[in-house]
Amino acid sequence: MARPYVFGSNFKMNQTPAESAAFYRQLAASIEIPDDARVFIFPPFTSLAAVAEAIGEGPHAIWLGAQNAFWAAEGAYTGEISLRMLTALGVDLVLVGHAERRHTFHEADVELNRKVRAVLGAGLRTLFGVGETAEERGYGVSAETVLRQLKIGLYGVDPEQLDRVNIAYEPVWSIGAGGTPATPDDVEPMAALIRDALGDLFGDAGRQVPILYGGSVDPSNAATFTALPNVDGLLVGRSGWTVEGFVATYQAGLAGHRQANVLVG
Ligand code: 13P
Repeated sequence: MARPYVFGSNFKMNQTPAESAAFYRQLAASIEIPDDARVFIFPPFTSLAAVAEAIGEGPHAIWLGAQNAFWAAEGAYTGEISLRMLTALGVDLVLVGHAERRHTFHEADVELNRKVRAVLGAGLRTLFGVGETAEERGYGVSAETVLRQLKIGLYGVDPEQLDRVNIAYEPVWSIGAGGTPATPDDVEPMAALIRDALGDLFGDAGRQVPILYGGSVDPSNAATFTALPNVDGLLVGRSGWTVEGFVATYQAGLAGHRQANVLVG
């Protein structure tokens, strides 16, 4: 069975509630989502309620995502957000282990594992981020780094929860305005490594987990990544901060995904 195309944007620390709600409304009015595609947005926490209200009741055609969550159910954790709080807002998906959480906020593999398990235990989906720094790449330990992040991050995950797991491979050196875009030749071997590791850990169900690429993706290069055999989608930042950019990048990526699946089929 072909894996779905999975696409969305991380708004990072941008947008007010009103701006995110307006973004959602314009996006919902301008995007077509076929059965084999999944679309998501990660507004900041303070925008989630406004976007949830704009989405309304019922299943969400565009998944509402949170950029982070804490693993504990409740308690003395000043500044943190629980899964119960996110579930009450109608959040579908939680980003865990984004490069900025790992490196700017020093979140460790074992903490991220607790978050992944808490998200899945709460019945939500996760998009789990992995990726090596420029320094790790320089030392030739990209594969070791990503495998360590993946194995610790997914440790103890029940195979029956895997249909709610998605992986984002984002090499840290490719992210943001100061980043160097990765090439498809950089990305495919890492995506294949992740696919094989998921297969080793979880069997066939592991191999079905969508793997997204992220880092300086835009409409001009999106299809070069989604046409790769082991890349099923994209996690974008800057190019998904306007609705026009979001839709153009989504469509370019979908065309690459279709091309790959025609070739495979
Ligand atoms: P850019 O697309 O802006 O490089 O950001 C990628 C990213 O970190 C998405 O989470």
